[in-house]
Amino acid sequence: MKKKLTRFDLQTMKDEGRRAVWMTAYDYVTAQLAEEAGMDMLLVGDSLGMAVYGYSGTVPVTMDQCIYHCEAVRRAAPNTFIIGDMPFGAYQVGIEEACRNAVRFHKEAAVDCVKLEGGIRVAPVIKAISDGGMLVMGHIGLTPQSSGAQGGFRAQGRTAESAQAIIDDAHAVYEAGAFSMLVEGVPPEVTKIIRDELPIPIYGIGAGDCDGQVMICSDILGLFQAFTPKFVKRYGDVAGEYRKVFAAYIDEVRQGVFPGDEHVYKMVEGEAAKLAARNNK
Ligand code: KIV
Repeated sequence: MKKKLTRFDLQTMKDEGRRAVWMTAYDYVTAQLAEEAGMDMLLVGDSLGMAVYGYSGTVPVTMDQCIYHCEAVRRAAPNTFIIGDMPFGAYQVGIEEACRNAVRFHKEAAVDCVKLEGGIRVAPVIKAISDGGMLVMGHIGLTPQSSGAQGGFRAQGRTAESAQAIIDDAHAVYEAGAFSMLVEGVPPEVTKIIRDELPIPIYGIGAGDCDGQVMICSDILGLFQAFTPKFVKRYGDVAGEYRKVFAAYIDEVRQGVFPGDEHVYKMVEGEAAKLAARNNK
């Protein structure tokens, strides 16, 4: 049986130069298959706002939605390290509220850590949650919850000055107590400095080579259709498979091919004749 990784295992992987592989999962079936495949971690990301609910961004996602999806993923993947993503509004209003929401993730959905977006400005929140005995993964660079302030979903840290601000964020997140960090949408030169300067695992999405990679599951499956960021690699065409299956199903039902004999229940021997007699057939 697969052994669930701990923060210490993740640290050892970094120290030994072994990359961790993880992705998002929002539902039972996907999480079960991911655990079976040997995924190191699963993130129940607030990207579910787009991937599952069809919002145009992550801002509308609520704590309750995140908790429901985390519960399903935890049931499916009991032996995988699960990250609960703090949605917008869960940690902006105050430190006490942030700690209460981090506690909810642990008590109601049995996550292994929470992740939250931001650098220097969220360091006090990271410290308070960590001081409460919970693991926090930071998330810096492109932070989708504040994409409005960042001028849209666009790469960050492309000038020396803005890159330095991200490196300063990384230090603040580390010093506040984060056990690991996700860097999103920055040039690899910036990521390399962060990796070289900080001892904790640095994971990436659109940030070049790191101590591990995360991808959004519907992106690698080739399922999400609305847009494809530059950093996404599609490993399949599941949308194409869906289309084929839906078209074949529609066709067979309309033609009377499905259901066939093999898809129907048989009556107990002799009972069909009795039933016909009762109904004068
Ligand atoms: O919510 C999410 O899916 C994320 C990704 C950027 C990994 O945080």
